[in-house]
Amino acid sequence: MSKTTIIHTHALTKTYGAGRTPALDRLDLTVEKGEIFGYLGPNGAGKSTTIRILMGLIAASGGQVRLFDGQAPSDIAARNRIGYLPGDMALWQGYTGAQVVSYFSKVRGVDTRAEVARLRDRLDLDLSKRVREYSTGNKRKLGLVLALMHQPELLILDEPTSGLDPLMQQTFNALMREQRNAGRTVFLSSHVLSEVQAICDRVAILRAGQLQAVERVDALMHTDFRWVTLTFDRPARPEWVQGVASVHDASADGNALRVRLSGDFDPLLRAVASQYVVNVHIAEPTLEEMFLAYYDRRATVAAPVR
Ligand SMILES: Nc1ncnc2c1ncn2[C@@H]1O[C@H](COP(=O)(O)OP(=O)(O)OP(=O)(O)O)[C@@H](O)[C@H]1O
Ligand SMILES: [Mg+2]
Repeated sequence: MSKTTIIHTHALTKTYGAGRTPALDRLDLTVEKGEIFGYLGPNGAGKSTTIRILMGLIAASGGQVRLFDGQAPSDIAARNRIGYLPGDMALWQGYTGAQVVSYFSKVRGVDTRAEVARLRDRLDLDLSKRVREYSTGNKRKLGLVLALMHQPELLILDEPTSGLDPLMQQTFNALMREQRNAGRTVFLSSHVLSEVQAICDRVAILRAGQLQAVERVDALMHTDFRWVTLTFDRPARPEWVQGVASVHDASADGNALRVRLSGDFDPLLRAVASQYVVNVHIAEPTLEEMFLAYYDRRATVAAPVR
């Protein structure tokens, strides 16, 4: 199956002011048609900077961007094929949602009424309210309507789910899958692993302006482990779980025993069965830990046989 590249960057660099460390440092990224691509990184990593360059809102300091069939971000024709949700959306406070939608539909020159009604119902958004009356989450929903209503080939969404409640996140996820099923491409930024895990085909990790990794999510998810903390009624001892299959890195802190568990719970529970367990806490690994585990495993697998 031949792939069609929708976003391609090469050595893309942005420095805000002379002598400063680049906010984006020689980024090489390729996003293919029909994928949901997650762009992850902590605050200040350079996600919004990348997105603003892709949207032609700020100029890069170096490197190249190509969209669709080789267009530059400044190309109006390319921009018309994109739906954009800014991270910091500023809208006219006195307009109703419907007025904002109507204004942007006219700018787009597309009849978006049917799609707007559909999105409004799906997102449960009251378009008769004024922008100033909307909560953070409702503003986000309005932004999503604006980004999606003309059914663009490419969606570029900067932290789309920030402010959405868990139920709305599910709706958002469903909407994104529908986009993909319709052959459209989604590029979304986030710093929340769980939302990226649920919908993205591939993720890129950015840190301090530098691309750390790009991987398929399903490959990462096979690196499954959890942090399990068992609290006992007495000081915990790592020896209790020594040699237990699926338990790694056991450490005790007061009455708490923290282990890295990969695989089933049963061997761990049996090992501590003679103790009184007060509490069990299970935490998902952070994305970073997952990547580390993934690369560890790959390094082990790829190690040359001597
Ligand atoms: N207009 C600007 N002028 C100067 N520095 C900027 C500007 N915009 C961003 N930066 C800096 O560039 C770096 C990357 O910022 P950016 O907003 O791209 O990060 P981000 O990954 O989107 O973070 P967040 O998760 O907080 O939204 C940060 O160090 C930030 O302070
Ligand atoms: Mg940002």
